[in-house]
Amino acid sequence: MNGQLSMLKPAASNPTTSPKLTDELVRTVTTKRAQVLQLLQSASSEFSAITFANSYGAEDMVLTDIIMKEQLPIEIFSLDTGRLPVETYTLMGEVENTYQTKPVVFFPRHDAVEHYVRTLGINAFYESIELRKACCHMRKVEPLQRALASKQAWITGMRAEQATTRASLPTREFDAGNQLEKFNPLSDWTEQEVWAYIRLFNVPYNQLHDQFYPSIGCAPCTRAVAMGEDVRAGRWWWEDPTSKECGLHVK
Ligand code: ADX
Ligand code: SF4
Repeated sequence: MNGQLSMLKPAASNPTTSPKLTDELVRTVTTKRAQVLQLLQSASSEFSAITFANSYGAEDMVLTDIIMKEQLPIEIFSLDTGRLPVETYTLMGEVENTYQTKPVVFFPRHDAVEHYVRTLGINAFYESIELRKACCHMRKVEPLQRALASKQAWITGMRAEQATTRASLPTREFDAGNQLEKFNPLSDWTEQEVWAYIRLFNVPYNQLHDQFYPSIGCAPCTRAVAMGEDVRAGRWWWEDPTSKECGLHVK
């Protein structure tokens, strides 16, 4: 299939990932960091069993940086689908070194993956929405349910601007599907603010972002976007934008 990760060449420079750090932008990001910190502090004092879902995307690196530097009592976990791009594993290693930590990862059930691949094929998710959703369920949703078991609250790096499906995203909501409280502290952040934070605080990030991958998931289901295209246009690009959620975030 055209547009897969391995077929793309690095771009020379990307204005999105290196915004001009004007005084106003720096002020806004400083203020928003303080607001996020306050939200995370109050969330973690309200809920002792609280965890942050870290996909290693740009937004999640902002939250990782705040949680680690401020030593907040919030666990961090990641879902390793087994199909992540190599650049994401490189970043995981950088995060280990930068913050002196080891990742907590949840893998899919090996028997489910073996059965899917043996009966349907290694890349069957391209064949239909049903098979794509079944793959996302097996590799992401079921491991997420294990990660959230016995938790009272979880935190994500989602932003309202990212997709039509996220347009009215609150900073705090009840996640009825998983039956726990959910916080989206970066809900009102712009992409420019996320990148200003990363540059200002020298945060490690996925090198694919410089190659026009604003949103990164599994390698076979992620590709670069063109200038001006929607930030999630490169995720499951062969599907209708109104249905492009993998099942991690449902009401
Ligand atoms: S997805 O649902 O389409 O995959 P997206 O990549 O936009 O989601 O990420 C939204 C949020 O979901 C992230 O900020 C993160 O909190 C969580 N998330 C997504 N993928 C993972 C992952 N592999 N591991 C942990 N959390 C994830
Ligand atoms: Fe499977 Fe693609 Fe979903 Fe990853 S994003 S779990 S490879 S369908």
